[in-house]
Amino acid sequence: MSDVNMESLLRMYDTPFYLLDSAKLHFRIDFLRTHLPDEVVLCYAVKANSFIVKELAGMVERFEICSPGECTICQSLGIPPEKFVISGVHKDSAQIKQLVADGIKNNAPIGRYTVESTAQLSLLRETAQSLHTTIPVLLRLSSQNQFGLDETTIQEIISKRHSDPWLSICGIQYFSGTQKTSLKRLQREICRLDTFLESLKEQFGYQAEELEFGPGLPVSYFQGDQFEEEWFLQTFSDLLSEMRFQGKKILELGRSIAADCGQYFTKVVDLKRNDQVSYAIVDGGIHQITYFGQSMAMKQPMIHLYSTHPTEEIEAVNICGSLCTSNDILVKQMPLPKLHIGDVLMFEKAGAYCMTEGISLFLSRDLPKVILAKEDGTHFILRAPIETQQFNKPIYKKGE
Ligand SMILES: Cc1ncc(COP(=O)(O)O)c(C=O)c1O
Repeated sequence: MSDVNMESLLRMYDTPFYLLDSAKLHFRIDFLRTHLPDEVVLCYAVKANSFIVKELAGMVERFEICSPGECTICQSLGIPPEKFVISGVHKDSAQIKQLVADGIKNNAPIGRYTVESTAQLSLLRETAQSLHTTIPVLLRLSSQNQFGLDETTIQEIISKRHSDPWLSICGIQYFSGTQKTSLKRLQREICRLDTFLESLKEQFGYQAEELEFGPGLPVSYFQGDQFEEEWFLQTFSDLLSEMRFQGKKILELGRSIAADCGQYFTKVVDLKRNDQVSYAIVDGGIHQITYFGQSMAMKQPMIHLYSTHPTEEIEAVNICGSLCTSNDILVKQMPLPKLHIGDVLMFEKAGAYCMTEGISLFLSRDLPKVILAKEDGTHFILRAPIETQQFNKPIYKKGE
């Protein structure tokens, strides 16, 4: 969005707010498509930011959905159920039964269900059996934590698959963590997956149709980060292409898709100098913006200043939020043109996880509005500000 449009946007909307830019999102998807192997398709992990799901509807093949709430959001946005991957370590049995039944009734079944435990496997099998249908599943391979199934359990399930007409085992899902900057680690993971898939073929004659892999691709958030994304993606792509596994490869991505398209705007509401240190207090804070890898506010994210009194005089300032905690520091010693009350700071790369990972109920401050900017220059509110005092307010009935 041009600066002129940005100025008009700032006149229209009070801070704090998030701006999601549809053009940037399209650009990002095109970028990923250009830099990933042709045969790879994209699955968007809704948890990264549910506000861009509708914009992504025609751009990604699948949506990974991890809770009943995320599912309702995707349904209400008209995402076709065949694009849903119902995932997550806690699957609500009533919801699963309802989803399968609705799929049959509307002739629009859910695309995939992941299996994270033998109990989930039984739930899906019993549901399919009771409704006389077959459910397409992905078995989630564990990365030595509470998620997924270990290799032995998957092998057991695969070995008995012929006696299980109710489940169609489409392949393997794997996710082991986010913001992976180490290609060595990704190489180890891809090698492990390839070897495991190969062993399923050799030992059990099972050829997985697909691998849904969440590589946790990293985002460069801070000034001075040494991250050459094009080279990184080229090396990563080579690793994928060199796999012996020749089935469908789906990349389950959140951060890498969503971060770029979001910006967070917050206004300077107070300025002071305490013991020779300059502080700017803003109307937002760490409950609304979080950057993975930020350490004690020492790293400097990409910030743009919309100044009420433009000046060339630079001053290092600690930018602090509105919460009553000394942790509420967004950046320490950020060199910026001298700030004034009313100036607006725009934080870039705020599209992934910022809206949901902050401690949004702390201090009962409002949730900020979310604005969507379309490619034609129009913008509108996707979510009005929400008061959070209602969630923190005890309710006593008379006489209690
Ligand atoms: C199962 C699963 N897939 C994909 C993702 C998305 O990860 P990222 O945002 O690093 O791409 C997550 C994030 O927690 C996840 O749990």
